Amino acid sequence: MATTSSLLPLIRLQSKIYPSTSPSHRASLPSIEHKLVISGGRSISGHVAISGSKNSALAVLAGTLCCSSGTVALRGVPELLDTRTMAEVLRSVGARVEAEDGGVLVVDASNVWVTEPCSEKIGRIRAGFFVLGPLVARFGKAEVAMPGGCRIGLRPVDLYIKGLEALGAVAELREEKVCVYGANGKGLVGGSFHLTYPSVGATETFMMAASMADGVSVLTNAAMEPEVADLAKFLNACGACIEGAGTSTLVITGRKKLYGAEFTILPDRIEAGTFMAAAAITRSCISLSPVIPSHLTQMTEKLTEAGCKVTQIGSSALEVSAVPEVTGGKLQAFNIKTLPYPGFPTDLQAQCMALLTTCVGSSIIEESVFENRMHHVKELKKLGAEIKLSGNSAFIGGTKPERIALSGGRVRAADLRGGAALVLAGMAASGITEVENIAQIDRGYERFEEKLLSLGADIRRESEAAV
Ligand code: UD1
Repeated sequence: MATTSSLLPLIRLQSKIYPSTSPSHRASLPSIEHKLVISGGRSISGHVAISGSKNSALAVLAGTLCCSSGTVALRGVPELLDTRTMAEVLRSVGARVEAEDGGVLVVDASNVWVTEPCSEKIGRIRAGFFVLGPLVARFGKAEVAMPGGCRIGLRPVDLYIKGLEALGAVAELREEKVCVYGANGKGLVGGSFHLTYPSVGATETFMMAASMADGVSVLTNAAMEPEVADLAKFLNACGACIEGAGTSTLVITGRKKLYGAEFTILPDRIEAGTFMAAAAITRSCISLSPVIPSHLTQMTEKLTEAGCKVTQIGSSALEVSAVPEVTGGKLQAFNIKTLPYPGFPTDLQAQCMALLTTCVGSSIIEESVFENRMHHVKELKKLGAEIKLSGNSAFIGGTKPERIALSGGRVRAADLRGGAALVLAGMAASGITEVENIAQIDRGYERFEEKLLSLGADIRRESEAAV
């Protein structure tokens, strides 16, 4: 049988915003190193438009592979390195992915027949592995390379595999690929599975696979993240029958066939939380929309505890104010322990750490979701932050009356959210801060510096060639 890579030239189709070779795409490729140069100490103001959720879009894009007839029309898919990579993963199994006018991304997976997606693409993003569930449920087999993504811990896939095994699949590791086969060489059958940890990716994989399994499946201790519920909403729009999404128990009645549908991705709560932290760290006032305020409860509570004022405007906007008239000129430190939703999101841990280095008083951040998500500590210290790391807990000294908390310097983004945290720190620091390796940030923030620039930040992108 022909290998996937030999088929790639045949099945790659050009699209307007998801091309393989457009100049704008080339300009953002990780191999060309860019940096952000920030002149700190300025306040920001105005309104910022929040993009569609990266994590929801990635899961939904994988979910399009469940649709064996019709086309899927998606609104709100953010233009990011990660979503582009995911589009390439889909193309590598034969899906047509094209951008149409009005910000609609169309995916036609009806003619998909390849069950071995491009390993190089899967190796770039964690969510690439999500295609495993749809492929094995639809075709009875899938061979998928181990996934990439942020290096923030071991990030095993045992729970994904155990979930599929509960649906009758047989799995083996061969030549660094996870090879999964359906029951009796066919598709999957309904089954029950209890997650020992509410993994987002394992829940999403189980949900997609069980949607096409023969019979009823039950998943307990499921992840409750809004992006998981968004994927369920999408699959249900395509004809699936998933009950309980957003709770810890999912009951899924398998369907023989799912079909295309129109769907809008929910707003990105992590991007919104990052801009909330940007307002706080620069002691500014900004508004943001669209957001789902209930998805930002933890962040709102922490910023309020610090002394900021967070006001809901209508049903889908927030105003965050940290101006001296509101805060009395200083923000108070607060503690964080990251947890699965509805706990404090691990994806906002680094941004809050940057903020805490500018608050009065000491604080503790305990990272309980990933075992190695503190790369930004070393970099924040280069900007003058006082942070002591002990295992997965960071002890943050906070600001002192006699000095400005942070001063500019050269730092390097090691991962997506840590990179965003360094930009926020640079905005608060005195002098110039250079954040290198911003391909990490481009993976998950749509037009990050453009949005910050429009709020009044002094920030520009430079390539190494321009240095
Ligand atoms: C998703 C998000 C990521 C977010 C994370 C937690 C995407 C593309 N990424 O990542 O932004 O930070 O949720 O909210 O949606 N684990 C296992 N075995 C498994 C699977 C996971 O031990 O089979 C562990 C992981 O190592 C980690 C923890 O479970 O320590 C949480 O991981 P998980 O919820 O799966 O996160 P991701 O889906 O990778």
